[in-house]
Amino acid sequence: MPVTYNNHGRDLEATSDAVDDVNIIRGKMWNAESEFDKDKDKARFRDYEFACERVKEFYREQHAKQTVEFNIKARVDFKTRQRARMGIWEAMELLNTLIDESDPDTSVSQIEHLLQTAEAIRRDGKPEWMQITGLVHDLGKLLLIFGSEGQWDVVGDTFVVGCRFSDKIIYPETFDANPDSRDSVFSTEYGIYKPQCGLDSVMLSWGHDEYLYHVLKDQSSLPPEALAMIRYHSFYPWHREGAYMHLTNEKDLKSLEAVRAFNPYDLYSKSDEPCDPQKLRPYYERLIAKFFPPVLDW
Ligand SMILES: [Fe+2]
Ligand SMILES: [Fe+2]
Repeated sequence: MPVTYNNHGRDLEATSDAVDDVNIIRGKMWNAESEFDKDKDKARFRDYEFACERVKEFYREQHAKQTVEFNIKARVDFKTRQRARMGIWEAMELLNTLIDESDPDTSVSQIEHLLQTAEAIRRDGKPEWMQITGLVHDLGKLLLIFGSEGQWDVVGDTFVVGCRFSDKIIYPETFDANPDSRDSVFSTEYGIYKPQCGLDSVMLSWGHDEYLYHVLKDQSSLPPEALAMIRYHSFYPWHREGAYMHLTNEKDLKSLEAVRAFNPYDLYSKSDEPCDPQKLRPYYERLIAKFFPPVLDW
């Protein structure tokens, strides 16, 4: 099975890395000019441009297809279909095989990204629940073998569907191709939602974050902050750009703080020292046993 999916996996990884690169660039935007002036590294700049091109193509598709209709269908599928039963470490290894043979120069393997994120959190003396959140946060990318329609319903920044697409979303003009942007309800400021209804009542575009949140919310003893980190880690329009505040409530402010604390570990740990999965496994198996059942329904 993994062999068949290897190409899809590699492709997904390239897109996912490019999405991260662009988020890193956007995070530095406020002082980007001076940095680029100082740093005459043209090759690096070309990498950025390349990432932007790939990412733009990706978002063109994602923004056209993430409709309310698709999102309802994705959630019905989630609830009604059986996918797999396995433990956390097994899921990590499966994700790694699926997205194997990544370009060694440009990206770390999936298992390594999970371990580096967890290890960076651990090094900073953060609690065990946050370390384990780092370890599992991208396992939702397994959607790729569980019948996703493409990459656009697995990775990329997320946003709210069912109300007007925020202009704080990356490449907002590409929503012109989404039929919901012409819908008489979905195109309004509040759409199908009430003011300050809370993000729990809001439908976020379907992808690895939303999927994993639904898998783990009833199959773990993770605290609400951890579940927020998992669910909202790609929700950049909200956690970085401050969009959708008209839909949030008191509880979401706590989530926002958690997600912002998590984000740097996800984005910036890729350049850390490589990790040895076999050496780290005993430590993390102990944590896994603390927070998860031995086998989970995926
Ligand atoms: Fe992610
Ligand atoms: Fe990640």
